[in-house]
Amino acid sequence: MLYVSLFFVLVLLWFAWPVAREPGSSARWFQFLLCGGVTSFLSCSLLIPAVFALLVIALGVWPLVRARVRTFAPLAAVAIAIPYGCVSRDAAKDLAEHQRLQREYPFESLSARAPEPRTAFRAPPTGHAAIQFDSFESALDRNPDALARSVYLRQLHDSNVDTFVNNPGFGVFRMVPSRVTGERLKGRSERGESPAQPGSPVPWDASEPLVPAPDADRGALRKLHGDGLLDFVNPDGWGYIKDRDRVAGFLSHRFSKVPEAEVWQVQRIELIGLLKHPGPVVYLSEKLPAMSELQNAPTRKLDSFEARALEPIRAGDDLFATRRGEIARFVGAIRSTKQCVECHGGTRGDLLGAFSYTLRAR
Ligand code: HEC
Repeated sequence: MLYVSLFFVLVLLWFAWPVAREPGSSARWFQFLLCGGVTSFLSCSLLIPAVFALLVIALGVWPLVRARVRTFAPLAAVAIAIPYGCVSRDAAKDLAEHQRLQREYPFESLSARAPEPRTAFRAPPTGHAAIQFDSFESALDRNPDALARSVYLRQLHDSNVDTFVNNPGFGVFRMVPSRVTGERLKGRSERGESPAQPGSPVPWDASEPLVPAPDADRGALRKLHGDGLLDFVNPDGWGYIKDRDRVAGFLSHRFSKVPEAEVWQVQRIELIGLLKHPGPVVYLSEKLPAMSELQNAPTRKLDSFEARALEPIRAGDDLFATRRGEIARFVGAIRSTKQCVECHGGTRGDLLGAFSYTLRAR
């Protein structure tokens, strides 16, 4: 666009010069004014009208100073330099901000942080779990905010100085603010800290038999798990994923609120990790799972309920639930959808982990 605007300036000068030579000629003025109108219109910018207006003033002043200044060139140079100076200053400011944001949201490699799913946990969902899995996957795609943030981050990284100078921002459409701003990137990612675990661990007698929860309960638990998982993985925070080794603006998964269900009150949600340790472990934390805090958190072995619950999940089910009076416990599978695979590697359907819930009836 810089080159296009320079072309228009040359055209303006081409018509201004005859006026400078014969300021009294109304025909030459007419041609110049017509050319100024047309170029201003075609350029769609404020730059060319500004150059044109200053040239009109310069040509108006020219007869008065003609005796002392030998050519019209210095006046024309001033008329061009002022608008270009302003625009360059603005462009330099935008460019500096752009480069600052590139440093604030650099590409980072996530392949070391998120180990590939283990083939031992390659357990694609079956039956009802598969339907649930498909609908969770499409819910992830219906997220305009996440899309907007990743588009901004892509623009931030895929443009360089040359495209920046030559994009419509330089002079043409100058009034349109630069599209990628710190506010826009931050505004879409702000959310609360991970809340504390709402209740303390519930005594659980391992010797009592485990009765699977009735189907009515399973429906409510499925919804609770789906809502909670969506909040935890937070697609808004994924950023721009070029590939596993180049991700910009990623925000670690964490809960922002305690998931709610009509009949159940969440007491605890713990993450069963399947990726980082040789066998399944439960991360210990007094907060709802937040990956930034669980990296170095202590772990415990699965208890007998969790170990039992993992069996049907490894066979393709999405949850295993049991109820004893007021208390329900269930484990919900966390499987890799096509979107998760972009960062986590492996195959769609792989188990990435599970949440172990303890709930109390309201
Ligand atoms: C933009 C990259 C990215 C995407 C997309 C992504 N994750 Fe993650 N995930 C990570 C990283 C990185 C970690 C490791 C923890 C960390 O460094 O924050 C992780 C960790 C996890 C963990 C914990 C693993 C453990 O045991 O420590 C689970 C579970 C998980 N992700 C599930 C998902 C699911 C489910 C999806 C898709 C719905 C998903 N992730 C999409 C990057 C991503």
